[in-house]
Amino acid sequence: MIESDFENRIVSTTFQGNDDGDIEDSLRPRKMDEYIGQTKAKENLRVFIEAAKGRGESLDHCLLYGPPGLGKTTLAGIIANEMGVNLRITSGPAIEKPGDLASLITNLQPGDVLFIDEIHRLSRAVEEVLYPAMEDYAVDIIIGKGPSARSIRLDLPRFTLIGATTRAGQISAPLRDRFGVLMRLELYKPEELRDIVLRSAEILGIPVDPSGAMEIAKRSRGTPRIVNRLLKRVRDFAEVRGDGVVTREIADMALAALEVDHLGLDAVDRRMLESIIGNFGGGPVGLETLAATIGEESITLEDVYEPYLLQIGFLSRTPRGRMVTPAAYRHLGLNPNNSDCGQILFEDVK
Ligand code: ADE
Repeated sequence: MIESDFENRIVSTTFQGNDDGDIEDSLRPRKMDEYIGQTKAKENLRVFIEAAKGRGESLDHCLLYGPPGLGKTTLAGIIANEMGVNLRITSGPAIEKPGDLASLITNLQPGDVLFIDEIHRLSRAVEEVLYPAMEDYAVDIIIGKGPSARSIRLDLPRFTLIGATTRAGQISAPLRDRFGVLMRLELYKPEELRDIVLRSAEILGIPVDPSGAMEIAKRSRGTPRIVNRLLKRVRDFAEVRGDGVVTREIADMALAALEVDHLGLDAVDRRMLESIIGNFGGGPVGLETLAATIGEESITLEDVYEPYLLQIGFLSRTPRGRMVTPAAYRHLGLNPNNSDCGQILFEDVK
């Protein structure tokens, strides 16, 4: 593979947008002071960055973990920016062979930040290259084949690896132990998400009143990526059905049309809860069984849907599987003490 193909495929020195490309990009904070929420992580990172800069060293390797959409890539960009170095972005599945990683790390400049998203998906063989790179800033290259093969060690510049994962439990112990900083990102509070809406609205030139911003925030499952997506959809309704201003009433109308309820649950959340109640008497039910029943991937349920349902106390995890709590029954308009709930749900469907 020629070098430029490789560069285009797995790395980029700029942020990669997702669903909305450039707009998503323009909403990302670039400095720590612009980044709202994650107070604990931010305070600690500020200290680590200042200390590393004071010593003239690169920042220690950091592992960021937590549910998707909380700003792990954004934080990596801010760290690189505050350290005054380049950011190189890649992901676990994009690094197929040990040679892909070797080529990437031997092209880093001193101090650069290498961000590997979904780091839990690196293969064992690729991880083996990462260990000496992280620990000794060196890469061992095998030259030749068979009995005449020999290994030469190339020194690398000091760099910072930032790994991101939604599944800290799947990171191998040797890899985890090589990170000097481990940080868990938490779901955001509604007030923090409201401030993100106000900031994003300002950047995009959307008139929003504070109660409209709070309504979107409360219904965004603790996740900035969702709050920004909903803001853009609510703006569409404000422009077509209203006078362009995002008010609480417009937000409410838009979110109802998008089937996002007052707590931010969407159709999949409700299907998940209703299936546990309707098919499994409220639980416990194993994740795989539940996933097969509602036709979703178990990984999606675990990474994307469960964290918020657990946080708001609608779901509990027991050794025998997932259980729906009385609060979730009440939210769905069901009586937790009524053993006919399953029947009621199925009648609703008929
Ligand atoms: N946009 C997305 N996430 C953000 C955050 N944490 N702070 C400010 N703006 C954001």
